[in-house]
Amino acid sequence: MDFIDKLKLNQRQKEYISNINDRIHDVFSPDLYEHTISTLFYCEKLAVRYILNDHISEESVGFLNSQDIYYKLCIAALLHDYGKIFHFEELKEIAFRNKNEINATEADLDIHSILHGFAGAFIVRDAFNIKDEEILNSIKYHTIGYCNMSTSDKIIYISDKIEERRNYREVFYLRELSLKNINLCLLEVYKNNIIYIIRNNKNIYSDTFKIWNNIQILGGLLDGSRR
Ligand SMILES: [Fe+2]
Repeated sequence: MDFIDKLKLNQRQKEYISNINDRIHDVFSPDLYEHTISTLFYCEKLAVRYILNDHISEESVGFLNSQDIYYKLCIAALLHDYGKIFHFEELKEIAFRNKNEINATEADLDIHSILHGFAGAFIVRDAFNIKDEEILNSIKYHTIGYCNMSTSDKIIYISDKIEERRNYREVFYLRELSLKNINLCLLEVYKNNIIYIIRNNKNIYSDTFKIWNNIQILGGLLDGSRR
């Protein structure tokens, strides 16, 4: 696969990614597969800016383990929507079985968009034998976020919503912002998401306002003009 060859990974890592790619290609709908690959590409773009850059930056996670973080990000990007191939009732049953390990009320687990992330992480853990907490966390929280998200989690959250196939009014501005300031971008994407949920009379995740307040502080701290 051409796109796997271009990833900044060693041969062993590329083979593992290729294996995941073959598996998801077989079971995802064409639309879900294209969204997944497009999310991976956007993650890659943001990783170059915020993870793999070797100059000192406030948002850089440091040089030593940056390649490892990047590798985990690629895996999480490919598997973030794996839960979507399961039926609502199956996802609900898996989420309830693992209820102690997720921050969710019963009402939260009735929200399909949340459920596929929460249950998806457990499905991926078992189906792909992935035990890495950072990868599983990125998958678990990719639709709702959590307080004090890691750089990788922010990248997955943002990329899922602004990858190049997405097409809505604000997306061009959000893409521009994503390369300038990841925290401000997270704030704007999260805001956009809350507005979408309310405008469409959908149920909202019980921790959304706590997360929003946390993101708001983060976005504000890095841009003095906002406070
Ligand atoms: Fe997605």
